[in-house]
Amino acid sequence: MENVVAIIPAAGSGKRMQKGVNKQFLEIGGQTVIERTLGAFQNADRVNRVIVVTKKEEIESVKAIAQTCGFTKVKSIVQGGTERQDSIYQGLKETTDQDRWILVHDGARPFITSAGINEMVENLVSRNRDKSVYDTESLILAVPSKDTIKRVKDQCVTDTLNRAELWNVQTPQGFSREVLIQAYEQAKDKGFKGTDDASLVEWAGHKVFVHVGSYENIKITTPDDLYLGEAILKKRGAL
Ligand code: CTP
Ligand code: MG
Repeated sequence: MENVVAIIPAAGSGKRMQKGVNKQFLEIGGQTVIERTLGAFQNADRVNRVIVVTKKEEIESVKAIAQTCGFTKVKSIVQGGTERQDSIYQGLKETTDQDRWILVHDGARPFITSAGINEMVENLVSRNRDKSVYDTESLILAVPSKDTIKRVKDQCVTDTLNRAELWNVQTPQGFSREVLIQAYEQAKDKGFKGTDDASLVEWAGHKVFVHVGSYENIKITTPDDLYLGEAILKKRGAL
């Protein structure tokens, strides 16, 4: 009844990493990024099933990693699309009405912990106990913004935002399957593009809440992040 499926988008090109390969296959501390990410979901008791979305030519590599590492929860590996939003849409097609909850998590965020994933599912499930599947509150992992953020136009500052109200948003983001599918279908129909999954759900008129995350849950994006990743592993005593 409370089945949780995780959709892991890993179908990007990693252009900002400038390594000529998909960054998911780069190693940090002797393990690939995707291996670390999938390992966290494999070991999270509250997750039943994992759908990985990847490029067509990388499906076999991901399959081999899942087999070698014993990631038994990885039940589907499907081809992604041009934009992240298209990739998630492909992943959504693999869900069934047995899946009550969907977590979406970037393949490129390898430092999420199994405990963190379980806590988030607990929060998502408990806050929605009495709600219908079309009326659930969604939940996103986020941390308070450390920097002052300014709006800039042509290198000229137009506005300084109130930092106390600003959060840096991460994944996982958790939704009821019905809410997420409805938002994605509507966005496809109307041509709405968002920069994360929750923005589609907000646009479709649903409530989204924040679950306080960790500053360690970085997204591997530029070469510097590989060094940051090693530092995080050292801090954890895992390097
Ligand atoms: N992603 C995806 N399909 C796409 C684009 C992105 O599944 N068409 C995935 C990436 O693989 C990544 C996550 O979405 O795990 C977050 O995207 P991002 O960090 O932007 O990764 P890339 O798009 O690969 O990197 P870049 O933007 O630097 O090219
Ligand atoms: Mg990208």
